[in-house]
Amino acid sequence: MSHYFITGASSGIGAALAKKCLAAGNSVTAVARRADRLAALGEGHDGFHAAACDVTDAAALAKSIRKSIAKLGGIDCAILNAGMYEPQDSTAIDPSIYARHMDVNYMGVVNALPSIVDNMLESGRGQLAIVSSVAGWRGLPRAAAYGPTKAALISLAESMTFDLAPRGIDIKVICPGFVDTESTAVNDYEMPHLISAETAADEILAGLKTDRFLIKFPRKFARSMNMLRWLPDRTYFRLVGARTGFPQR
Ligand SMILES: NC(=O)c1ccc[n+]([C@@H]2O[C@H](COP(=O)([O-])OP(=O)(O)OC[C@H]3O[C@@H](n4cnc5c(N)ncnc54)[C@H](OP(=O)(O)O)[C@@H]3O)[C@@H](O)[C@H]2O)c1
Repeated sequence: MSHYFITGASSGIGAALAKKCLAAGNSVTAVARRADRLAALGEGHDGFHAAACDVTDAAALAKSIRKSIAKLGGIDCAILNAGMYEPQDSTAIDPSIYARHMDVNYMGVVNALPSIVDNMLESGRGQLAIVSSVAGWRGLPRAAAYGPTKAALISLAESMTFDLAPRGIDIKVICPGFVDTESTAVNDYEMPHLISAETAADEILAGLKTDRFLIKFPRKFARSMNMLRWLPDRTYFRLVGARTGFPQR
């Protein structure tokens, strides 16, 4: 049985992942700020460690990781999933909102890395999965604060692979499409191919068993988004703008 370290485990995709990992008999460290949600998640499970912690606090996160390893042993699989999303209108930019997205979504992952990577280097093995998004592939409407954090995570994972894969650490990037969670509840438009957090967790757990670097789903939506990546810029802006209510001249 394995030790899964999951950030953003108090709701949505992270909570669904934690539940499934526990149900399969694994140990789980669950990180998030809402301690009550974490406590409920771990009820009735011995191999559970609740780490009530803000991922933007690097020192607190490092301490939580040390405690988690002391309690449940070395980390076999870290799923760095904590994130936030606030839609933005680029005609009124508030840099503090952009900084907050970077702090939580990007630095929240980076802050977890030193202790986890040290632990995995020591054991010579481990899996490090970073939750990005299809919104990291190309700019999307309203995603000016969120999208760049997810693009940065893909680049981070690619760069780290060169050093860490030869030392036994399997790095993966997870790019979900729309998942029905607290984060997407703010969207006032129809989300194509929307899936449940449970289905997203199943896709992630299945993807972790493969040798693929990129775990993307749902398949049909991810395929369409992937095709958009290679469109010429003007065609991309026109097509996506027309489809999403942001018509371009
Ligand atoms: N839903 C989608 O359509 C979708 C699509 C692509 C990618 N994603 C990504 O999937 C991940 C999970 O999102 P979700 O959709 O499951 O949303 P969610 O239900 O809102 O979950 C977000 C999780 O992140 C935690 N979190 C947020 N800020 C934190 C902080 N400062 N410190 C510690 N934990 C923090 C939250 O816990 P607390 O509030 O208790 O701290 C919560 O557990 C995110 O990285 C998101 O960008 C989601």
